[in-house]
Amino acid sequence: MKDLRAYGAYAIVTGASSGIGRQFARQLAAARVNVVLVARHKDRLEELATEISDEHGIECRTVALDLLANGAIDQLSQEVAGLDVGIVVANAGIYYAGPLVDNDLADELDVLALDAAVPLQLAHRFGREFVRRQRGALILVSSSIAASPVPYEANYAAAKAYVLSLGQALNYEWKKDGVDVLVVSPGPTQTEGLDNAVGIDFSTMGGAKMDPAQVARTALDSLGKRAHVIPGFSNNLADMAAKYLLPRSTSVRMYGRIIKQALTDDAGGAA
Ligand SMILES: NC(=O)c1ccc[n+]([C@@H]2O[C@H](COP(=O)([O-])OP(=O)(O)OC[C@H]3O[C@@H](n4cnc5c(N)ncnc54)[C@H](OP(=O)(O)O)[C@@H]3O)[C@@H](O)[C@H]2O)c1
Repeated sequence: MKDLRAYGAYAIVTGASSGIGRQFARQLAAARVNVVLVARHKDRLEELATEISDEHGIECRTVALDLLANGAIDQLSQEVAGLDVGIVVANAGIYYAGPLVDNDLADELDVLALDAAVPLQLAHRFGREFVRRQRGALILVSSSIAASPVPYEANYAAAKAYVLSLGQALNYEWKKDGVDVLVVSPGPTQTEGLDNAVGIDFSTMGGAKMDPAQVARTALDSLGKRAHVIPGFSNNLADMAAKYLLPRSTSVRMYGRIIKQALTDDAGGAA
């Protein structure tokens, strides 16, 4: 792993109160990077902040913020003004499974905003500063399903494909400026997000779920070495099949069958 402190003294992690984001925060702290934890649940952020600052002797700040609120990125910028922020992990994400027309449009627009527009805003806001000073790193959390259109997760998969494309392009644009960009595309990972997913029961789908700590570790190990990483051997095989072995129409049909079988009665927006 690179010396993560070389990017700057602080890292911002969105969606740090749970799952993969929580593990990013822990591992950045273990690497002696001060961390700014962002999510809506202040109590959970403060509990984590106490735990990791005690354990690693770093400074840990919390910003309780709904990233879907108007002006959220401006507010976050103000909260970190004056800090030497070197790493931004755009991790917060939500999704709804089910037939698109049965889901509430407002929920699907929230998915598009939190999973795609917020990473864009973070990239623009903090990337500008990174490029100006020729130092920094951006980690964007996509998903292994970004490799194919996915029926019954149509909007979420499209948003994650956007994030993958954005990050790979920015990796190229910013390389000359000494700024590292990495997209991490986890497969099914054992988090609260997976357990509480609306409209789908992942336990019926079989296959091992990854440890979120392993996802964060793989991403941090890959930062500065590549543009895109997919944690886990079987997730890489599935990605190669979707990209190179199967015609896109076959991949769509395959995903359609798999996801349809896992849909639950609350598919269709009963969040
Ligand atoms: N788990 C998987 O199988 C999997 C697979 C592929 C990709 N991913 C991606 O990995 C990322 C993390 O997923 P996860 O499974 O770790 O999810 P998770 O356990 O549900 O955590 C999501 C985090 O996002 C925060 N969040 C949600 N809405 C927010 C909002 N409006 N404003 C600010 N923060 C918000 C949540 O905190 P609060 O509720 O406190 O706000 C929480 O900290 C997501 O982008 C997800 O799409 C996950």
